[in-house]
Amino acid sequence: MDGGASGSTVRVKKFGVHLGAEISGIDLTQTVSDADIAVVRDALLEHQVLAFRDQDITPQQQMAFGARFGELSVHPIAPHDEEIPELIVFDNTPDNPAMFTDNWHSDETFREAPPLGTMLRAIQVPEIGGDTLFASMTAAYEGLSDKIKHLINDLEAVHDVKLFRLGFTDDDEGREQEKYINENFPKVIHPVVREHPETGQKILFVNPHFTLHIKGMSELESQSLLAILYHQAEIPEYQIRHRWEPNTMLFWDNRSTQHYAPHDYTERRFLHRITIKGDRPYGPGQKPA
Ligand SMILES: [Fe+2]
Repeated sequence: MDGGASGSTVRVKKFGVHLGAEISGIDLTQTVSDADIAVVRDALLEHQVLAFRDQDITPQQQMAFGARFGELSVHPIAPHDEEIPELIVFDNTPDNPAMFTDNWHSDETFREAPPLGTMLRAIQVPEIGGDTLFASMTAAYEGLSDKIKHLINDLEAVHDVKLFRLGFTDDDEGREQEKYINENFPKVIHPVVREHPETGQKILFVNPHFTLHIKGMSELESQSLLAILYHQAEIPEYQIRHRWEPNTMLFWDNRSTQHYAPHDYTERRFLHRITIKGDRPYGPGQKPA
């Protein structure tokens, strides 16, 4: 498929059943045309995870492309570039793996308005290992029985920085960081089933990285139901597994997908991430007027 009548030169080639497409015919060192941006945006909604190969770009070029889809955000915890706070730098080794990425999650659901999307570009990757897995959470929702769908459609869950708390050190710096997070990122409530603000699809929107419990349930009920729901992302039929190469950039729809980066790398793994602000999630049929 290509842009055709739109005047775009971008080509979109689907590679996964529920998610994943490769984007070619685009050079991110150059200013991308509005027609090309429109094709990429449509592809993101349809395919959820997009791969751009051979993009030898600077952080500024990555940020300029990202900013075409929305305002960029600054992560309150993840390590970032000293001069460019919007740029998260994952510079990891087997002894120092990226924090808690070996848990299924969508990025930053501890925010009132979690990101629309994330762009992650590989600079140096291990010969073996260090892949990233993605799950389509629209497919994960669809795969539930009608009984469970009915049960969860109007439930809400509490989200928090949760696992990141384990990374706060027991010293003045760690306590200062925890205080900052508690003051600026209090626990938030999100629907368990989120309606996608652009496609209207239903999305299973709980994750073990940031979800604490389901509102209005006992701890046993909540944890039992969450275990069933978390399992959905683990089902291979809803997944793709991305093998990184230097200068590959992924752009994922953070609303409709979750991801997991195994800590199985044997060499340095060095990537640049930027994050695009999103909207406050709402449940099925609850779209604000
Ligand atoms: Fe992530």
